[in-house]
Amino acid sequence: MNPTTNIAIRAARQAGNVIMRSFTRLDSLTVSEKKANDYVSEVDRNAEQAIIEIIRRAYPGHAILAEESGAHGKDDFQWIIDPLDGTTNYLHGFPQFAVSIALTCRGRLESAVVYDPLRDEMFTADRGGGALLNDRRLRVSDQRHLKGALLGTGIPYRDQRYMDAYLGMLKDLSKETAGIRRPGSAALDFAYVAAGRLDGFWELGLSVWDFAAGALLVEEAGGTVSDIGGGSRHLETGNVITANVRLHQELLGTIRPHLPSGLSA
Ligand code: IPD
Ligand code: CA
Ligand code: CA
Repeated sequence: MNPTTNIAIRAARQAGNVIMRSFTRLDSLTVSEKKANDYVSEVDRNAEQAIIEIIRRAYPGHAILAEESGAHGKDDFQWIIDPLDGTTNYLHGFPQFAVSIALTCRGRLESAVVYDPLRDEMFTADRGGGALLNDRRLRVSDQRHLKGALLGTGIPYRDQRYMDAYLGMLKDLSKETAGIRRPGSAALDFAYVAAGRLDGFWELGLSVWDFAAGALLVEEAGGTVSDIGGGSRHLETGNVITANVRLHQELLGTIRPHLPSGLSA
């Protein structure tokens, strides 16, 4: 395993400790609304600090992009951090949230960790080295068609611009598949596609820290990740479709007719 992935694992565990320590006293947390429907607590900030400290100690020259504290430094290597993905779930005691840490080199994903501290599930990937859940190798599902597939998604709740388009996709896909889930942590949704627990996933308007790590997990588990039009701009646009290679084509085919002008990637 890459040394950078080991550092990410250590940082994710530390953040997991911060998250779990407060999970039994949610009522006493100070919560604020960053933007409409976008909440943050001291747990998000403390977990992020814990991650950044560990990364800085190991790689003082690397740049960092972290959800709560923004961009620090400039370097070919950049860490992309979501200290608590699924904050709304967490604050309600709904047990689906994770820590997400990715490393890019000149924009290319190299290391990925998604950690679910409740279930102690550590999803990791190195470019070219495959993806693991704890010590078990991961493989995307071999579900070939939408019929019978279980999909994950995220319902837009901040930016409502594409709500009608999204609802069109949801309507068609719920007719064609075995079921659709909205678990509420995009990082874990990707990890579940990598693990074959979900056959595919799509969402509009994600931030790069929600799924940078998840995208490498899926690719290293043999799956495909693209933007909503089938291209490769997903890390820029945040509009994303992921599945195994065959199912990805069918998903694109159902989603494409719903794309309004102005939403092509
Ligand atoms: C959110 C989760 C959610 C997705 C949102 C993200 P946060 O991240 O990943 O599943 O639908 O778009 O913002 O705010 O809990 O870190
Ligand atoms: Ca997030
Ligand atoms: Ca977050």
